[in-house]
Amino acid sequence: MTNSLDTLSPVVAGVWRMAAWNWTPQERLRWIEACLDLGVTSFDHADLYGGYTVEALFGEALALAPGLRQQMQLVTKCGIQLRVPARPGTRIKHYDTSAAHITASVERSLRALRTDAIELLLLHRPDPLMDADEVAGAFERLYDEGKVLRFGVSNFTPAQFELLHARYPLVTNQVECHPLHRAPLHDGTLDQAQRLRARPMIWSPLAGGRLFTSDADDAMRVRGTLAAIGEAHGVSAATVAFAWLMRLPSRPHPIAGSRRIEAMREAVAATRVPLDSQEWTEILVAASGEDVA
Ligand SMILES: NC(=O)c1ccc[n+]([C@@H]2O[C@H](COP(=O)([O-])OP(=O)(O)OC[C@H]3O[C@@H](n4cnc5c(N)ncnc54)[C@H](OP(=O)(O)O)[C@@H]3O)[C@@H](O)[C@H]2O)c1
Repeated sequence: MTNSLDTLSPVVAGVWRMAAWNWTPQERLRWIEACLDLGVTSFDHADLYGGYTVEALFGEALALAPGLRQQMQLVTKCGIQLRVPARPGTRIKHYDTSAAHITASVERSLRALRTDAIELLLLHRPDPLMDADEVAGAFERLYDEGKVLRFGVSNFTPAQFELLHARYPLVTNQVECHPLHRAPLHDGTLDQAQRLRARPMIWSPLAGGRLFTSDADDAMRVRGTLAAIGEAHGVSAATVAFAWLMRLPSRPHPIAGSRRIEAMREAVAATRVPLDSQEWTEILVAASGEDVA
């Protein structure tokens, strides 16, 4: 049973780290339910998360309350072949964007997630060997079969996005962006997203936690600025970090990857904190260490 909603929630929940949480199926279900209660209805997967285990862990939890499937959007990815015992044919980690791999990976994801369709499928990494016509053909077949509703990419440059988008309409580029990694602000990625109205998805919006744990000078400066702005708004520094991304006119969907529901709540709170351009710039300047030109 798939869900008729065709947009992602403003904040997406990322499950990359879920296997490491070592939770029981009931604990996983409680986390999923709590996310849904917060309005975080989209869940970001990849075939390979947890060494190809997380989709099944999520599917197992969902089987305890199958009705929840209709309230959520599932995102997953394919295109990376890891060297793991479960893939004896893989001698070296490599990219595979062949039609055969994309199709087989979707079939495995559907089984693991215990669903009959995926709302959004992304190619995980750009592949120099990607044949855009072949990928478009695979996407068309998966769409016609009702197995995938929409398609996008992740970590693609604007030129790589343009190439595939010319063959098949893509709805998102999922990229890393946070105050300590600002390349998408300047390399055309977010300009392209805004031009095409293809809202980006942002991974590691808190730099994987480094915004709050790193002793590097830039992280410490950003941390202080986030806290000061948060104090003025009556919210946490983490909320301000999410608000910094959500202020961007390409209207990104940050993917929050915390096991703590309180942290997911802090992410959602950012939807109610519109930073003005000076606050936004204070964070940028704290990160770069210099005024804008
Ligand atoms: N497309 C790609 O190539 C790609 C790559 C990486 C990730 N992703 C996606 O992006 C999602 C999010 O990535 P992410 O997990 O790196 O996101 P993140 O939100 O930047 O980092 C989450 C990590 O930061 C910690 N954290 C959160 N708040 C904190 C705080 N206030 N102080 C200290 N630590 C804090 C969390 O620990 P707690 O759990 O203890 O809060 C967790 O370990 C992933 O789940 C995945 O879906 C995609």
